[in-house]
Amino acid sequence: MLIWLWGIYQTKKGQVRKMFFYMPTKVYSEEQCVKRHGSELAALGEKALLVTGRHSARSNGSLKDVEEALESNGTGYILFDEIEENPSMETIMRARDLGIVQGADFVVGIGGGSPMDAAKAIALMMRHPDQDMDYLYQKGVDSSACPVVEIPTTCGTGSEVTPYAILTIHAKRTKSSISHKIYPSLALADPGYLKFAPESVLQSTAIDALGHFLESYLNSNATDYSRMLVRGGMRIWSKFRDVLDRKRELIEEDYQEMLNAATLGGMAITHTGTSLPHGLSYYVTYEEKVAHGKAVGIFLPGYLKAADSQTSRELLELIGFQEIEEFRAYIGRVLGEVMMPEELRAQAVRGLLENAEKLKNCPFSVDERALREIIEYSLD
Ligand SMILES: [Fe+2]
Repeated sequence: MLIWLWGIYQTKKGQVRKMFFYMPTKVYSEEQCVKRHGSELAALGEKALLVTGRHSARSNGSLKDVEEALESNGTGYILFDEIEENPSMETIMRARDLGIVQGADFVVGIGGGSPMDAAKAIALMMRHPDQDMDYLYQKGVDSSACPVVEIPTTCGTGSEVTPYAILTIHAKRTKSSISHKIYPSLALADPGYLKFAPESVLQSTAIDALGHFLESYLNSNATDYSRMLVRGGMRIWSKFRDVLDRKRELIEEDYQEMLNAATLGGMAITHTGTSLPHGLSYYVTYEEKVAHGKAVGIFLPGYLKAADSQTSRELLELIGFQEIEEFRAYIGRVLGEVMMPEELRAQAVRGLLENAEKLKNCPFSVDERALREIIEYSLD
């Protein structure tokens, strides 16, 4: 489905607010959707480059489903299964080279955020065989990638609908989104794959989705459209909140809710971007090897506290918390402790103060002291 809405209206105070909504990814979210919609998947090209990590796409059956869908529709494929967690630019280039040599003309990302983000970057670079990896971060927005299909097997990133591809930049000892915007053509979201994910992955990725909601709502780019997605998504998220800190048992219906929440979070940040918790998380993930969702989640209480507004209280109420302290305790129960040594705190604060993109998204002004307070409230 293609929805393109554009609106500009006058607010009460008279300033002009711009509203923009663009969501060109066709999404199927249902059991067995790879099988059911295999012909649409196969129709995107003559030969697919399948992009996965080493294990989970095999163990949860998603890779087999994709292979069968392509085979039954007479579409060729090759497999690149070497995507590491937080993929590097170097890995993107190796997969790109394989795709070009083998004559692939579309890319299927299967897994969590790492393979799905990688698929977008690879699809872009396949269209630019003469460019080296610096092109990924070159200024200007290039959307001329091969078609991309995303098949999520975790429940946080929302990468199946976002145009973002976050890669590790070893030279800068952090992660960052590539400059270019690559929207997937098709997302096939089957909640059945989540049944194979370890509890820690469900917890971490579901908290990543919560981070997307909170950072999208508390964001200078937020509009009525993006906040509509957040409100709807957080209502869904609150239904499985108590599963994450083991207050109740997980039931079958939770998998679909978890996946839907993640996708709605992705749609929300597509329009706003993320803000300080994501910006801080990249340093923790790089240096301390902490999973993305966990690294984001630990900074959420500090971000809400720093906003200290009616808006953050509304957000807490939407997910059933009365007080920020109650929320902080919940995050601690779900994620456990994270260590952030002093030199890493200093590095993250310095890095974020130079990150104009993430600072711009934050709706309140921050300086070194404010960032320090966010970290300290969240971790100490
Ligand atoms: Fe995230």
